Amino acid sequence: MRALESARPLRGTCSVPGDKSISHRAAIIAALAHGASRIRGYSSAGDCSATLEVLPALGARVERRGDDVTVTGPVDRATRDVGCLDCRRSGTTMRLLAGVVAGMPVSAELTGDSQLLRRPMARVAEPLRAMGARFELFDGDTPPMTIRGGRLRGITYELPVASAQVKSAILLAGLRAEGTTSVIERVATRDHTERLLAAMGAGVDVRDGRIAVIASELDPLDVSVPGDLSSAAFVVAGAALSPGSDVVVEGVGINPTRTGFLDVLTRMGGEVTVEPGGVTVGAEPFGAVRVRHAPLRATTVGQGEVPLIIDELPLVALLATQAEGTTEIRGAAELRVKESDRIAGLAAGLRGLGADVEALPDGFVVHGPTPLAGGTCDALGDHRLVAMFTIAGLVAREPVQVLTPERVADSFPSLDRTLQALLRGPR
Ligand code: S3P
Repeated sequence: MRALESARPLRGTCSVPGDKSISHRAAIIAALAHGASRIRGYSSAGDCSATLEVLPALGARVERRGDDVTVTGPVDRATRDVGCLDCRRSGTTMRLLAGVVAGMPVSAELTGDSQLLRRPMARVAEPLRAMGARFELFDGDTPPMTIRGGRLRGITYELPVASAQVKSAILLAGLRAEGTTSVIERVATRDHTERLLAAMGAGVDVRDGRIAVIASELDPLDVSVPGDLSSAAFVVAGAALSPGSDVVVEGVGINPTRTGFLDVLTRMGGEVTVEPGGVTVGAEPFGAVRVRHAPLRATTVGQGEVPLIIDELPLVALLATQAEGTTEIRGAAELRVKESDRIAGLAAGLRGLGADVEALPDGFVVHGPTPLAGGTCDALGDHRLVAMFTIAGLVAREPVQVLTPERVADSFPSLDRTLQALLRGPR
């Protein structure tokens, strides 16, 4: 196919910024611990800076030198109004902080950029209200969100949507609640909060889809954050698509609740190998991921697998445009309420490049393979769509211009630099 014949190979070894989900949690949970925690390899994502910038208002001390961060807690327990906390575009910051503020005798307003002000928050407000916190939301669902925290009681809550952010908010509130707080998840979601809480001495019990936590004092910790597999996925996809590619991403997190993308790529015929490297102090496995170009075939992804690959689904759409057969993704309606409506955004952008993509209410269908022409892709201000269309540009016949390119810095500011180095190849 011409698109692929014109693609240049990616070759060599690289690393990616620290995991975004783990960085947010390490900083927030460190702010709840008594003493100074050191976090090495903190993510360079703009979203994670937003988390560091709001913690001082709650009484934590934050010092940062590049990717080396020290957070000293515990957050202030005095009764007062802490004012407005600007979470910028970071949904994880807002939802996890909601759980923290709910358990503090303070009031706060959580707000952010226009993009974040469109995102659903009733999903965290509802269980935290049931625990005893007071929440006011603009129009009942979206931020700004005013929270009056205080005395909480434990609840048992079955997640109506498979969301690690909602689960984490409830567990963080549970650290300050009377009795046991349990979250039941029918479908597994990323478990970084549970792992880190246990490593920092919290009373956490995980079994059969039920995560229980009791009120706990946390010990500070010295943690290293592994590389972000969700960022590595873009490099991996670029290598899988470009003939002659052979790339190793080192020191990347391989927590099984995050590796759905590698499983799906392997199912599609991708040549992926994972070499485990160890486990961090925060109980996160990491390793080296190697990927070589190979012809791809279509696959299907269903509801049970979606949370394990949620942020990488736009990339699966791109891979599917170059795969033989029909790829179908279902059970992924959550994509419509991410930083953008990702189903609409990926379908419109890839169709504009010549791909055969059909948007569904809860997913999409891609008929492949189709060569990709160049053109302009509107990433809708969404970092994951910016990065996906950037990778599409590696395999398209003509240049691909991506709108709102600066938004890639919300998760992976060094994407272009990393790709350039791999296009130059090993020295
Ligand atoms: C995240 C969980 C996911 C994911 C987001 C980060 C987290 O969101 O899409 O990028 O760090 O917990 P949901 O929990 O809303 O599915």
